[in-house]
Amino acid sequence: MTDAPDRASTVKRRTVIQGVGLVGGTVAAGGLLAACGGGGDGGGSDTATSAPPQSDAITPSAEATTDGGAPATGTELGSTSDVPVGGGRVYESEKVLVAQPTEGEFKAFSSVCTHQGCAVSMIEGTTMTCPCHGSEFSTDGGKVLQGPATKALPGREVRVEGDAIFLV
Ligand code: FES
Repeated sequence: MTDAPDRASTVKRRTVIQGVGLVGGTVAAGGLLAACGGGGDGGGSDTATSAPPQSDAITPSAEATTDGGAPATGTELGSTSDVPVGGGRVYESEKVLVAQPTEGEFKAFSSVCTHQGCAVSMIEGTTMTCPCHGSEFSTDGGKVLQGPATKALPGREVRVEGDAIFLV
């Protein structure tokens, strides 16, 4: 008698089980990321949030530029009309938030939370909120209004060409 075939079979089964475990881990991580990034709406599409406009003056760190004569450059995000005044829109695939605190004033930030990397997906007035642990950031430079995040959201540069917004 020999047990060689059984041992080989056991090795193959272990290999298969380890492979399944790896795939399962990947799916679980993907599910976790989706849970962090979707903002509860199922994800996959850009989302807009709106709130009553605020009258506070804001000093931008990542403000849109407009140049009537130069050709548009960068990735087109969408129309300026897609970004509500006093709110903003999340462009999930580009991982960018565009806020319009006052009419015609566009500011953009990375939507990747500086705490643990969830998608900051809510904008109300001048406050951008991460749904994972509740960090809040200001559209005034992306600075932290409420932790646990301790670092500001990095600004992104956008350009308005006609009624289109481009990520530069
Ligand atoms: Fe945004 Fe924790 S990942 S608050």
